[in-house]
Amino acid sequence: MAASISYAPLRGLYGLGRVRGVARVVASSNPREPLRTISRGFQHSAPQRSTSQAVPDFAFAFDIDGVLVRSSDPIPRAREALLFLQRSRIPFILLTNGGGKHETERITELSSKLRVPLSARQLIQSHTPFAALAPQYHDRHVLVVGGDHGSCRSVAHAYGFQHVVTPADILGTTPHIWPSSAVFSAYYSSFAQPLRNDLQKHKRSLLQIGAIFVFADPRDWALDLHLILDLLLSHQGHLGTRSPRNGDASLPNRGYQQDGQPPLYFSNPDLWWAARYHLPRLGQGGFREALEGVWRAVTGGEKEGVELKKEVLGKPGQAMFEYAERALGEEREEVLKGEGDVPKLRKVYVIGDNPESDIRGGNMFESPVGTEWESVLVRTGVFDGGKEPAWKPKTIVKDVWEAVQWGLDRSGWKERLE
Ligand code: G3P
Ligand code: MG
Repeated sequence: MAASISYAPLRGLYGLGRVRGVARVVASSNPREPLRTISRGFQHSAPQRSTSQAVPDFAFAFDIDGVLVRSSDPIPRAREALLFLQRSRIPFILLTNGGGKHETERITELSSKLRVPLSARQLIQSHTPFAALAPQYHDRHVLVVGGDHGSCRSVAHAYGFQHVVTPADILGTTPHIWPSSAVFSAYYSSFAQPLRNDLQKHKRSLLQIGAIFVFADPRDWALDLHLILDLLLSHQGHLGTRSPRNGDASLPNRGYQQDGQPPLYFSNPDLWWAARYHLPRLGQGGFREALEGVWRAVTGGEKEGVELKKEVLGKPGQAMFEYAERALGEEREEVLKGEGDVPKLRKVYVIGDNPESDIRGGNMFESPVGTEWESVLVRTGVFDGGKEPAWKPKTIVKDVWEAVQWGLDRSGWKERLE
């Protein structure tokens, strides 16, 4: 039975107004602060709207993996669909449970893959809201998990986290903490940063971790899982210790995670995602389920009244869609600048390939400003059209191109894609 996930409590985290405040103070840690519009070699001036065409009261939110690209391969007609929206000055954002690179780096990559000029302002990744937590942990060590090499370390630093530690750093200092990863030592030593001397003695780290952030899909599940487990069983986040409260039936959660252990944040719940392989691959949700399984074996689990306390961000969470709706509001301001009376945003078409995250999220979202979100499921990713999707979209189409045409028709837009 999949572990229960609570999404709501994080609303504050999504900086409804807070992130921006923080971002304004320390501008560099605002992930979506576009350093510049990525238009390497692309001419991109705001086209004049034909007088016959009204200012759009609708917009699009595109998922990335399985809708626009599969790994680094652009999905056919995705470019044409986005370029049409740009030419028609119809606003859109990119809303992904992916991550692992800073927004500005990821949007540069995506722009060149799709050969479409895009701005970091349009991109929301699953870990983008983590930036709002940086001030809270400015004087604490945080464990950053996931992604390739040290890429998530640099994202965390860019977000404003000062004391970032990765599993590679800990393994580099304490190789015996997980002997099985010795075979990957060449990989780890290429980006591991040794822990400060005062944080290690006799090949043991004296590290105290204030929070654990899973930024992106872990690569070495075993090492990452074991270090997270060690910290969740530790005394106050001191790596290499065990809490005397573990298993104490007189305490809530049978004494587990009742002794100042670091909070555990996952950036997204995706069990499956659409990569290059023809079948969906396990995502961060697969790693979390593995951890939940080991946690159940170690603590006795639900039958002993023990749960794994964690926060899971990303789609389908209400907070992630609220964040996306705000970002869309900012993008509209930009795209519709100089258009005189801009109508209220009445409709958003959310285009996704994953029923569990994109469609469920779009269907369940309650817009605080009363905007209607309609979900469109494409068959170019996780969902391949085989069986009935678990969450029913407004419509199912072949690909993003058809999805955009469907949205345009639904909003009575005169111009057509072809
Ligand atoms: O790891 C990425 C994956 O979980 C899904 O990304 O763009 O389909 O939300 P996306
Ligand atoms: Mg997807």
